Amino acid sequence: MATRFEAVLNVDLDGPRISRHLYGHFAEHLGRCIYGGFYVDGAIRLDVVEALRALNIPNLRWPGGCFADEYHWRDGIGPRAQRPTMVNTHWGGVEENNHFGTHEFMELCELLGAEPYISGNVGSGTVREMSEWVEYLTREGDSPMARLRKANGRDEPWRVRFWGLGNEAWGCGGNMTAEHYAQEARRFGTYCRDYGDNQLYKIAAGANGADYAWTETLMKQIGHLGCRRIRSTGYHALSVHHYTLTGPTWEQKGSATAFDTDEYYTTMVAAARIEEILAGHAAVMDAYDPGQTVGLVLDEWGTWFDVEPGTNPGFLYQQNTLRDALVAGVHFDVFHRFADRLVMANIAQTVNVLQAMILTDPDSGALVLTPTYHVFRMNQGHQDATSLRVDVRTAPPSRPVGDANLTTVSMSASRKDGRLLVSLSNLDAGAPADVRIEIRGGTLETVEAQILTSGAVQDHNTPQTPSAVAPHAHDGVSVAGGALRVRLPAHSFVTVSGIL
Ligand code: AHR
Repeated sequence: MATRFEAVLNVDLDGPRISRHLYGHFAEHLGRCIYGGFYVDGAIRLDVVEALRALNIPNLRWPGGCFADEYHWRDGIGPRAQRPTMVNTHWGGVEENNHFGTHEFMELCELLGAEPYISGNVGSGTVREMSEWVEYLTREGDSPMARLRKANGRDEPWRVRFWGLGNEAWGCGGNMTAEHYAQEARRFGTYCRDYGDNQLYKIAAGANGADYAWTETLMKQIGHLGCRRIRSTGYHALSVHHYTLTGPTWEQKGSATAFDTDEYYTTMVAAARIEEILAGHAAVMDAYDPGQTVGLVLDEWGTWFDVEPGTNPGFLYQQNTLRDALVAGVHFDVFHRFADRLVMANIAQTVNVLQAMILTDPDSGALVLTPTYHVFRMNQGHQDATSLRVDVRTAPPSRPVGDANLTTVSMSASRKDGRLLVSLSNLDAGAPADVRIEIRGGTLETVEAQILTSGAVQDHNTPQTPSAVAPHAHDGVSVAGGALRVRLPAHSFVTVSGIL
């Protein structure tokens, strides 16, 4: 039997703007993300670029992750054959040849039409090293680093806005206390200069999940918010990381594809926790910064399961099912609700690692678009749109999962250029949901809908069945009497767009 849910959408009551950067990405020197994913046989894979361009990806974070705090950028410039090698100690202990470095990354961003988000090395680097990287990338005219860049074939400086001051400083980024890191972030941030009209937006390495104390320490240390001079020497935003974990322990995270219904619901509860986590950090930030001048950046999120059998445990290669797509749908609904404080989010990671958009076959090279890819594509219209508040009229359907109560219908809406876009997920694995949304403050005309679902939540795409989980037109939608009605089959993600 179908569950029912009624909501109200005031299409003329504007919420905050949904930054396109909430649809950001992350590519680390980890497993087959860069080498064997983006970069193959000494060249950027253009079919990967083409697939990602269709998502309109706004930014790409690089080179880590944990790798960022052991990366020395000078090793990755100049003639490739002369670049020194190093050991990637975090990810499989493999040798890194530094063939993909600054120039290659900036070229990739140009091809993608995405803004670079560079994570600098605080953990094992120096202030000088980071300061010179900024100079190398962004300084015009004559200076030691600008000359070096030109000698390496690039005359014009690049534009770089997003700059990370280390990564996970509480762990792989140096095992620091929050107090110590806050001082380090201010010190490193001070020497990351704005050259010409390039203005950095510096992002301090933030909390692990629900560690609100970390956020509070960084907020205390950010300086006097009213004083531009002090802010410009510190950081403009704080990050936070939250992964969706299902298994009982870190060592047993569960299979990406072989899971039962109980595990499915446990995953959904873990995903939905993002709401509580963002609310917790936002509340701490509001206490210190009620004017919301400091941004919150969720620069790592996504599912983390056991690696696929037979693959290198350090490479974090996992399949991606309809369950992952629903995890993404739930996250985006929450992001849209927090769009006033949340300025950026980056899924981990774009190709061949964790909750990827694209998987490439190591032998044949075949490229597979995952169910998560399709959610990014279907939700594209929310980028830079005005978020709209959804008010519930009847309690949304829910079910008990262990000690938690999982709301099984999730939705969010936005308006852009006279078009309404509503995203809805039915997390119930067995029952459809009928949703009635009363439209107030405007008239909704023709609507069209797309659906992403499949026979089972475990379904996924492979080189042999690349479209097992792919979007289709959905006819379970209608508008009558000022209300939009949507039928959501069990375990489905639906987008409805219409003209206002
Ligand atoms: O995304 C994989 C890893 O997860 C990142 O390198 C690190 O920041 C996090 O712990």
